Amino acid sequence: CLDDIREQTNVYARVRRGKISGVIGATLQEVSFMLVNAADMLKKAEAGKYGLGAFNTNNLEWTLAILQAAEEAKSPLIIQCSAGAAKWMGGFKVCADMVKAAVEATGVTVPVALHLDHGTYENCLECIEAGFTSVMYDGSHEETFQINLDRTAEIVKIAHEKGISVEAEVGGIGGVEDGIVGQGEIADPDQCKQIAALGVDFLACGIGNIHGVYPEDWAGLSFDALAAIKEAVGDLPLVLHGGTGIPVDQIQKAISLGVSKINVNTDLQLVFAAATREYIEAGKDLEGKGFDPRKVLKPGREAIVARTKELMEEFGSVNKA
Ligand code: 13P
Repeated sequence: CLDDIREQTNVYARVRRGKISGVIGATLQEVSFMLVNAADMLKKAEAGKYGLGAFNTNNLEWTLAILQAAEEAKSPLIIQCSAGAAKWMGGFKVCADMVKAAVEATGVTVPVALHLDHGTYENCLECIEAGFTSVMYDGSHEETFQINLDRTAEIVKIAHEKGISVEAEVGGIGGVEDGIVGQGEIADPDQCKQIAALGVDFLACGIGNIHGVYPEDWAGLSFDALAAIKEAVGDLPLVLHGGTGIPVDQIQKAISLGVSKINVNTDLQLVFAAATREYIEAGKDLEGKGFDPRKVLKPGREAIVARTKELMEEFGSVNKA
């Protein structure tokens, strides 16, 4: 069924670009919902031993840049949003409507999923209502593993009834994200197996990765831990958080050992900030109408497109759409 929608969506996108959308007016309603969930694309990535980047969006510029990169690279795409970024944008509904409208307006033909990054139980319910096609319930901060297990099971039931994919987490990811400090522990393979048995679609597991820029003395990913987790969960796609700054050879080895989704947030923030800084430091905002926000934001937006494509190349998702 998803394939049917995808095919209709592709036809719709092709027809729209040909400016004859009127002829398929009857099917417009069916295909206007153009986001897909992330289960299918990650299953394919797991089987094909390549990785899909899941890129965090912060606003309209970010969204359009990431979509452009995916379309140019012909890569399936997961755009994700944290609760903090959603709040900045005016809420989950604003984010969902923006991403959907951007997909439609640009006529993107690659599959795009909109995923909640590190959600609480309540965030997941809100996103399911708001039109996200995928959610992460991060129960790794709950008081006990049993609470994580119980709440993950509930979210799986509610989300799957609506065709929405679910990511769960075992073992904290280090570093700070949205003000939450993770412990960076290594996930227990037995706990991963128990969460996998709930029917989650993909699983985040701590293997020494941390959010944000890695410290000089970082020990690297634990491939022994990753291999043991993969052994325990079978063909369930695994998620590597903290994708920024992990050496490419380690990322690629992790992919070969069963990581299928790589989360990237800080990396795109860094390239955006660097390009914007260069523009301002060159005094370009002071030349003519250089202060126009479209001019100020353009270098950063272009930097996001270029870096996202580079990462897609490294993860192996180019031409996999
Ligand atoms: P980075 O900010 O380190 O890229 O991590 C992103 C992430 O894991 C989002 O969940």
